[in-house]
Amino acid sequence: MSSQPIGIFDSGLGGLTVVRELRRQLPNESIVYFGDIARLPYGTKSRSQIQRFSLENTQFLLQKGIKALVIACNSSSSAAFQLLKRRFPIPMVSVVEPAVGEALQRTKAGKVGVIGTPATIESRVYEEALRRGNSRIEVFAQSCPLFVPLVEEGWLNGGVAERVIQKYLTPLAEKKIDTLILGCTHYPLLREEIQGFFGPKVQLIDSASPTVKQLASFLERKKLLYEGRKNARFQIFTSDLPRNFIHVGERFLGEPLPPIKVVR
Ligand code: DGL
Repeated sequence: MSSQPIGIFDSGLGGLTVVRELRRQLPNESIVYFGDIARLPYGTKSRSQIQRFSLENTQFLLQKGIKALVIACNSSSSAAFQLLKRRFPIPMVSVVEPAVGEALQRTKAGKVGVIGTPATIESRVYEEALRRGNSRIEVFAQSCPLFVPLVEEGWLNGGVAERVIQKYLTPLAEKKIDTLILGCTHYPLLREEIQGFFGPKVQLIDSASPTVKQLASFLERKKLLYEGRKNARFQIFTSDLPRNFIHVGERFLGEPLPPIKVVR
């Protein structure tokens, strides 16, 4: 069982920021990634629609024989994590709880900002999880719908990115947050610009690293970490192959993409 791959899905390419960290922390593990590009974005869709897509994506990955699942999409994690956990008895991590744990450890002022897609912010999962961890935490949430298309288009810096960042994040700066959760797997690509806007006093929390740490300890406890000698396999499936896919995907992953198989 331990030689089976880890399954990861996202609405598109953003989840490759989690894959990048997974390949760094657990280089022996095989990975099957599914990016639901044909139905992206999830972040502006209804909860029931996101739940349906998330169920289908999980079923697809289960057919590939995965031993564990990473929901590398905040919109899916917010809308469907509990549902998927009830439905499928395999080890599963979302990107929400690990980022919350990290933010609770790192905030000193107790003022935490959360940014994400409209679906993630409206679900209030981050606020609830932060307050469960510490009832005195003040949480300031802001949806940033234009960040995903900016990243997909590769406009990571320069005038347009700066103006959009300033528009969305000024209210959070005014609240004097000291910690900001990047609650969308696309946002780490805007990290430098966002950090530049806030300056060094605000710590940015990217869910990739704490999510992979949580997965690793989960797999270790269940004796599912791969300790054999076979080379790790890495497969990417998507529901469509847009024109700029390779270029954008490589920026998320930080290395050349393996061959991509499109499933309908
Ligand atoms: N990667 C998705 C997330 O983390 C954002 C893109 C989308 O809206 O589908 O929420």
